[in-house]
Amino acid sequence: MKLKLILAVLIFAQAITLGLSAIGHTAGAPTVPKVPKGWKFTFPDGDAKSGKTVFMNMQCYSCHAIKIPGEKLPPSAGGIGPDLTGYSVLPKEYLAESIIKAHTVVAAPGYVVKEGKAAMGNYNHFMTIQEMIDIVAFLKRGLEAKGK
Ligand code: HEC
Repeated sequence: MKLKLILAVLIFAQAITLGLSAIGHTAGAPTVPKVPKGWKFTFPDGDAKSGKTVFMNMQCYSCHAIKIPGEKLPPSAGGIGPDLTGYSVLPKEYLAESIIKAHTVVAAPGYVVKEGKAAMGNYNHFMTIQEMIDIVAFLKRGLEAKGK
C-alpha cells in the first residue's frame, strides 16, 4: 500500500518535470539565433611594436613603400604594391580585410590593381590571428613619429 503511494508520487513528479521542460522549449523562446541589436564588427586593439616586428620579418616592405620612424629599409623596398604611407587614417577593419582578402580596389591614391586581379600573396595559412591584429595596430599607430 505504502509502496504504491510512493510510486504514484514519483510518477507524478516525473510528469511535472516533463511538462515543465516542454513549456520551457516553446514558451516564446526564439527558434532562430538573432544578431543582438546594435552589433557591429569591431576589430580588437593589438600591439603596434609586435606588429612592426611581424611586418619586418614577413618583409611586407618588399612590395610596399612605407615610412617607418627610426627604421632604415633596404633600397629595394617598395615595388608592385601600393604605397602604405598615410594608411594610418584608414579604419582597422579595412586594414585587416586588406590582409586576409586582397582588395581589387585599394585606398592608395592613384594606385590601380592591374586588370582587377589582386597580386598580393595570401598570408592566411601561416600568419596567426594575433600577428594580423598586431600588424593592423602597427599600420594604425606605429607609423607616426610621435606616440608609440
Ligand atoms: C608580393 C608583393 C606583396 C607583398 C609581399 C605584400 N603585399 Fe600588400 N599588396 C600587394 C599588392 C599588389 C596590393 C594591391 C592589391 C592586390 O593587387 O592584391 C597590396 C595591398 C595591400 C594593402 C592595401 C589594400 C587597400 O585596400 O588599400 C595593405 C594594407 C597591404 N597590402 C598590406 C600588406 C602587409 C601587411 C604585408 C605583409 C604581411 C603585405 N601587404 C605584403 C603586394 C604585396
